[in-house]
Amino acid sequence: MIKVAPKETGIHDLLRKRWSARSFSEAMIGDNELMNVFQAASWASSSMNEQPWRFVYAKKGSDSYEHILSTLVPMNAIWAGKAPILLAVFAKKTYGDGSVNLHAWHDVGAACTKLLLQAADIGIFGHQMGGFDRQKAKDAFQYPDSMDIVSIIALGYLGEADALEDPFKSRELTPRTRKSPEEIAFTSFSDL
Ligand SMILES: Cc1cc2nc3c(=O)[nH]c(=O)nc-3n(C[C@H](O)[C@H](O)[C@H](O)COP(=O)(O)O)c2cc1C
Repeated sequence: MIKVAPKETGIHDLLRKRWSARSFSEAMIGDNELMNVFQAASWASSSMNEQPWRFVYAKKGSDSYEHILSTLVPMNAIWAGKAPILLAVFAKKTYGDGSVNLHAWHDVGAACTKLLLQAADIGIFGHQMGGFDRQKAKDAFQYPDSMDIVSIIALGYLGEADALEDPFKSRELTPRTRKSPEEIAFTSFSDL
């Protein structure tokens, strides 16, 4: 598969095979598989073990699915509207004692990574999105002020790239690129 990270990277096969798909088959994800990926998210580490991640998941055909889809920018909604599951991802802003949790978004991102890796292990592809209208999401979801909305994730089994129109089709077929370790890891702060 063109999108799988090269073997020469030397990274774990599970890391290699996670990538952000845009073409999804119509197959629905079973409840056991969904709970399995949330289980993986729940095993992420977090500041003070607060576990600030929260997910609202919606199956295609439900009202909540349409609500989540309606908040996406058009360039995301075009392909994400084929995914069988959409997740809205939230961060609880405070610790149990009421003080601000400055690490909440960090920890939610870490949990999403675990969720997507577990998904990859069972053949489910995920695509995280920051491209949505936050005000629309606040109005549509009526979520509590104690939460921040962080991202939306499309989840599903892989579909054919041919099912997409350009530019999405060509993006689906373009190999992924990365900065090298030398470009991101330094021994001196002045190299940052
Ligand atoms: C927080 C976040 C927001 C993102 N927002 C979008 C988005 O709005 N639309 C989109 O097509 N991809 C989005 N992506 C996916 C990235 O473009 C993708 O992860 C990146 O290009 C690397 O590709 P890979 O995940 O296949 O390795 C987002 C990813 C993250 C982590």
